[in-house]
Amino acid sequence: MSRKITIRVFKHNPQSKISKPHFVSFEIDETPKMTLFVALSEIIAKYDADLSFDFVCRAGVCGSCAMLVNGKAKLACKTLTSHYKNGEIELMPLPVFKLIKDLSVDTNKWMNSVNKRIQNWLHTDKITQNSKLERRVEPQISQDVFELDRCIECGICIAACGVAIARADFVGAYGLNRIARYSTDPLDERTDDDFYKIVGDENGVYGCVSLMACELNCPKNLPLLSKIAFIRRKINAIKRTK
Ligand code: SF4
Ligand code: FES
Repeated sequence: MSRKITIRVFKHNPQSKISKPHFVSFEIDETPKMTLFVALSEIIAKYDADLSFDFVCRAGVCGSCAMLVNGKAKLACKTLTSHYKNGEIELMPLPVFKLIKDLSVDTNKWMNSVNKRIQNWLHTDKITQNSKLERRVEPQISQDVFELDRCIECGICIAACGVAIARADFVGAYGLNRIARYSTDPLDERTDDDFYKIVGDENGVYGCVSLMACELNCPKNLPLLSKIAFIRRKINAIKRTK
């Protein structure tokens, strides 16, 4: 039997001089397997066409729809309303990122800034020749790199991290995961010393105090803590030689 659920949504438009942060509650009929994405779409269609939230894929792939659900960062398109037994769900925008409106935040600005700082691209002097086969990489190493490349840049590991909330320059699990990815990839010619120069400080690998929220909340189940430890071990070894 279907039930009524109450969705309490944060609303605010920072661009408007008259807008003030507030919550609005909507009561809707829950349908089987209803996700928060479906619930929000119904609210927009029936009650509040002005409500803003982000989505693209509706399948946990694009990373756009992350938001706080009863205080925990989650993907709206992968979160079932039935998970909330008392039928009361409060939605807020992710912290850390710039608020665009209501539940919509600008993760791109934060990601672009971190991507530049950690130089989030493959570094090599070799010129790619399309007529030739790619350089060979051991299958297990390729698998390890692909595993870390599954990050969808949703920002949940950042929004869930107390250090990232408190310290604006911390590259977080997202940034350290990218460093681990390039450090694992033999096609990237950077040395451990190069990575030390990028993340060998309090805004990098020494900023992490193992709160564990990044890995516990990552919707792709990435091994973030073990990868931060992997980078920290490499950087510690470099530090000892300095
Ligand atoms: S590491 Fe996980 S939580 Fe962080 S941005 Fe990537 S997919 Fe999202
Ligand atoms: S809409 Fe793409 S991850 Fe949710």
